[in-house]
Formats: sequence, structure tokens, C-alpha cells
Amino acid sequence: MGILRIRKAKRIAGEFRPPSDKSITHRALLLAALSERESYVGRPLMAEDCHAMMTCLRSLGARAIEDGPGFRIQPSPWASPELPLNCGNSGTAMRLLAGAIASFDGVAATLIGDESLSRRPMKRVSEPLRQMGAQVEGDRPPLTIHGRRLHGIQYRQEVASAQVKSAILFATLRATSESTVVEPSQSRDHTERMMKAVGIDLMTEGLSVTVDPSPVRGFETTVPSDFSSAAFWIIAASLLPGSELVLRDLGLNPTRTGLLELGNLLKVEGRRQVLGEPVGDAIVERTPLPEPFQIGGELVPRLIDEIPIMALLATQLRGRSVIQDASELRIKESDRVAKTAEFLNQMGAEVTPTDDGMIIEGPTPLKGTTIDPAGDHRIAMSAAIAGLIAEGTTEVKGTDCINTSYPEFVKHLEKLVEY
Ligand code: S3P
Repeated sequence: MGILRIRKAKRIAGEFRPPSDKSITHRALLLAALSERESYVGRPLMAEDCHAMMTCLRSLGARAIEDGPGFRIQPSPWASPELPLNCGNSGTAMRLLAGAIASFDGVAATLIGDESLSRRPMKRVSEPLRQMGAQVEGDRPPLTIHGRRLHGIQYRQEVASAQVKSAILFATLRATSESTVVEPSQSRDHTERMMKAVGIDLMTEGLSVTVDPSPVRGFETTVPSDFSSAAFWIIAASLLPGSELVLRDLGLNPTRTGLLELGNLLKVEGRRQVLGEPVGDAIVERTPLPEPFQIGGELVPRLIDEIPIMALLATQLRGRSVIQDASELRIKESDRVAKTAEFLNQMGAEVTPTDDGMIIEGPTPLKGTTIDPAGDHRIAMSAAIAGLIAEGTTEVKGTDCINTSYPEFVKHLEKLVEY
């Protein structure tokens, strides 16, 4: 179990490419494994979550050959794996795979996960997949899926969840009729953008998305870098005066960049599109700290993974920040409402957890202490960034979990931080 010791920093500075996007990597690997022709996925994120996806796909029959900075994925029939498919810590792998497996008539697989994933709700995917005609056992992991010839559904989601939406969209590709999914608010739309970009018949209208059963043609892509991983540095730069950063190839999908609504945190150059995704190079210069913020409603899904690090920012803002409508945060890799409040309060902050969010009074000076991130990668990285502004030494225990999404985090920390 790794321990990271962090001390107060002067600033961060440097130019680099944050790790490739986790959500886009999952989708690109899965879509490539469903293709009728060879595909190439360049610069996939090879962190534990996406490794789990790749291993599961290989166990289902996918042929993925490493080639340069990516993988060639060749068409191959899917078959029932002999052993359970281990999704590790990855909710995205489990939910997206559940959808795809359900669509292969005669293929059966059991999806398992680590301790954290085994506690997470799966009824949100098993229910719609059953409605489509699949046989699914388990509303929590392990989940056993018996694929069938599925029919499309009209499905109104109770919560905004890109994983649930994507499971239904992937399941429909091989179904006999179209599906329409309606969300209560917009969750990340990577699946829709990717499917459209490879020529799948998919239509979005407001909060509704309709996809037709379609064959998947081969495609080539390069995965952009992950805004959620970059967010740790964007916020560190706002907290440390004089910081200067350039973040290359940054994914700027507006369904992911809710954080930017807090203020002018970035200047973007070289805007471009990669497989339907907006990408650019982001320049982060020291901007005045934003005002305390109120986050709720439709904004929440667009920054859900950034809430732990945004809560750290709020501890340094003058006044009360409020996060609400974020009860989904309680069922992520950990109960992130509880864990965020716990580690920040341990460091001297004033954070009150609520049912669906938290209230943060600022500014409060932070002091170094020992933090246990409870196996949650985003809590571990948020605690490490907190250590850069805290007095004394901050110790983050169990940092191995950072490999879930950002294996080079410590290397980047060492490269960027100036004391
Ligand atoms: C993800 C969707 C989000 C997010 C998760 C990744 C995805 O969860 O929190 O880290 O890749 O689809 P939801 O399914 O709750 O939107």
C-alpha cells in the first residue's frame, strides 16, 4: 500500500498531456470490439479501470493487438467466457459490458468486481436490459447476463447516468428495433458522439436519444486527455498563486466541463474535433479565486467526478459554498460526500455533509495530517492536492488506488510542483 507524503508548495508549472480519457477509452474499446471491421484505438487510457475493460473484452473473444501507441482491434465473434469477468473497481466497465453482452443471443457471462464495485447498485442496468428481453440475474454484483435477441425500449431514466444510458444504447446496436432513452438531465454524451461519428443511426433531441440497431463499421481514433484528471491541476493552479500550466489535447466536451462555469479558469487554443469530441490545448494561468459557489440541478452531472476537488477549492473561498442534488456521489467508488467531508475536516476545514451534497464554509487554513482515501482514487488525489496548500506534511495512505484512473499522477506531481 503506497504512502504519499506531500508538503506545502509555492506553485505548479509545466506543460504536459494529462492521461487519456477514461470514459472515452471504455467506449472506444467496446465499440471497436463490436465492429465488423478492424479498428484502431490510439492512446487509450491504460489505467486499471480500462485494463479491466480490455481483459473482459479479450475473455469475450476480442482480438486486441498492441500497435504503436494503441491497439488494433480485429473483428471476432463473442463467446461465453469460462470464468467470471472481473471489472475490478470500474462501474463503467460493468454497466457498459452488461448492455453489450445482453445483446448476444446465446452468450452468457457473470460480471464481478472488487469490494467497492460489489456494493454499487446495478438494478439501474439490469432492469432496462430485462425489459429489452435479456435474462439478468442480480441487482448488485455479481451480475449474470444471458444474452438474447433483444428488442428496443422506450426508457425514462430516474437518475442522470451516462453508464445506464450507454448500456441501453450499446444493447440496442444488435437489437431488432430502436430504443429511446430520456434522462432527467444531461449526463456525459461520449457514447452518442462516438456512435454518430462512426456512422451509427443515432438522434438526440433535448434530453432524449434514439438509436437504431446498426452494424458497427471499423474506425480509427485517438483518445483525448481526461478533463476530470486535468481538474486536479486546474484547481491546484487556482490555489497556488503564480502557477502556469499548459494541458495538451484536453477533452472539452461540455457535458464534462461544468467546473469551468465557476470562472475563467482556462484559455483554450487549437480547438479541434476528434471522433465527435471537442479537444484543445488549455492554458491555465493564475486567475483570481472564484466566488463561493452554489451547485445543483442540471449542472451536477457535468461535474460529478470533480466534486471532491471542487470542495477543496471551496474551503479557500470567502463565504459559504453549497453543493446539492448530488446524492449520486454517495454511490460512487466510495461515499464521496462522506469521504470528502471527512478528509477536509480532518485537515481543519468546515464541511457539513448533507443528504445530497455538502456545505462548505471558507476560507479555512488547512493543516497536514494522515488521510485514508478508502480505496477511492479521486479522494486520494484530492487529498494530495490539499497537501500542497496545507501547513506541515500531509500523508495520503493507500495511494495504489490512484492507478484506477491516473497511474502517472505522482510522476506529474513531482514534475509540476515547485517549493
Ligand atoms: C461515467 C459516468 C459517470 C461518472 C463515471 C464515469 C461514464 O457516472 O461518474 O466516473 O464513463 O459513463 P454516471 O453513470 O453516474 O453518469
